[in-house]
Amino acid sequence: MRMYDLILRKRNGEELTTEEINFFVNGYTKGEIPDYQVSALLMSIFFKKMNSRETADLTMAMVNSGDILDLSMIDGVKVDKHSTGGVGDSTTLVLTPMVASLGIPVAKMSGRGLGHTGGTIDKLESFKGFSVEMPKEKFMNNVNTIKIALAGQTGDLAPADKKLYALRDVTGTVDNVSLIASSIMSKKIAAGADSIVLDVKVGDGAFMKTKEAAFELAHEMVEIGKNVGRNTIAVISDMDQPLGLAIGNILEVEEAINTLKGQGPEDLLELCLTLGSQMVILAGKAKNPEEARDMLLNTIKSGEALEKFKEFIKAQGGETDVIDDTNKFEKAKYIVPVKAENSGVVERINSQKIGLIAMELGAGRATKESIIDLAVGIVLNKKRGDHVEEGDIIAYIHSNDETKAEKAKNDILDNYVITKEYNNEIPLIYGIVR
Ligand code: URA
Repeated sequence: MRMYDLILRKRNGEELTTEEINFFVNGYTKGEIPDYQVSALLMSIFFKKMNSRETADLTMAMVNSGDILDLSMIDGVKVDKHSTGGVGDSTTLVLTPMVASLGIPVAKMSGRGLGHTGGTIDKLESFKGFSVEMPKEKFMNNVNTIKIALAGQTGDLAPADKKLYALRDVTGTVDNVSLIASSIMSKKIAAGADSIVLDVKVGDGAFMKTKEAAFELAHEMVEIGKNVGRNTIAVISDMDQPLGLAIGNILEVEEAINTLKGQGPEDLLELCLTLGSQMVILAGKAKNPEEARDMLLNTIKSGEALEKFKEFIKAQGGETDVIDDTNKFEKAKYIVPVKAENSGVVERINSQKIGLIAMELGAGRATKESIIDLAVGIVLNKKRGDHVEEGDIIAYIHSNDETKAEKAKNDILDNYVITKEYNNEIPLIYGIVR
């Protein structure tokens, strides 16, 4: 088999066989096929696309390129949740204890973030002493006993994806639905989930900028799940404004704790209930979304989800006194209000820009080497559709640097669009693809 022939066949719009897909994924992972040939193939895939069989084959070839976690020691249906990425997205922190307190095992692999804020692990390190380093036996034991454990990426999961993603990044071939879908699904499948709930974000702060593109990606991932025997459901949700109010690591953790106490922002809770309901159904604990939703709401009302969160943080070495009193979290030196310069209604909040402003304050990593400042970020005080009078506070900047705070103030004002005529009805949930 020759790579040259695969490139020609795809360039001419033909379908690649399973063997051909395995050939190029294995060859590239082992360093036997050069970047320039794989780049040419990726560009051909970009223009000529892949069908769902080819996409499933590509996914499984990437899964089989490295370790596949065996979670069979964990009792029950393992349901994983994945978000395609957004601004101020702390759903994992809220959702996992809610679901775990219903007896559904949550065995989660998470990463550190390269972007507006840290990843889930960075956020959880807001708890002094919290660690994701633990032997496999302890991880399994924690999931079996308290139903929740979170580890960093261990082993070598889907190394082919890592290599291909890096190449796509520099060859203009990231935004192809088959390539994104197979990339995301390969990592989830290698991480051992039986069933997967996907949160596909759409809007300014998301990968997918249009509803059509988000639905296409959702259908593709659900189809891959079906083709490889993992029940997969995708929720399409709004990322045309940040989720909740907080953007920043400790700030988002505080917001998650407040949500678990029943005092969080409505949109964050609603999205957690929607995603959580699908997880509960996939785990076989409820028959329909209404029943699942009631069960989940009850975990908040009864305090069980909050207790589960405490149990989880403690089991991984974290101090939990901050959960009872979030004022004990480290605070930024300067908390600077941003005031509206005119009256009207908030028509838009440019999510991506707001995320970048938080990153410039130090909440996220611009490069892998950047050090995150856990205390800094932005807390929104007004969201889309809210009325504001000139001088009203629209957001608070949390910064450890006065100059950066001053710059952030102007940048936030530039990215809040306040108009007289509000005409921007965007739903939180666009739909669910099964
Ligand atoms: N996230 C991934 O993991 N892969 C992609 O291709 C895009 C987003």
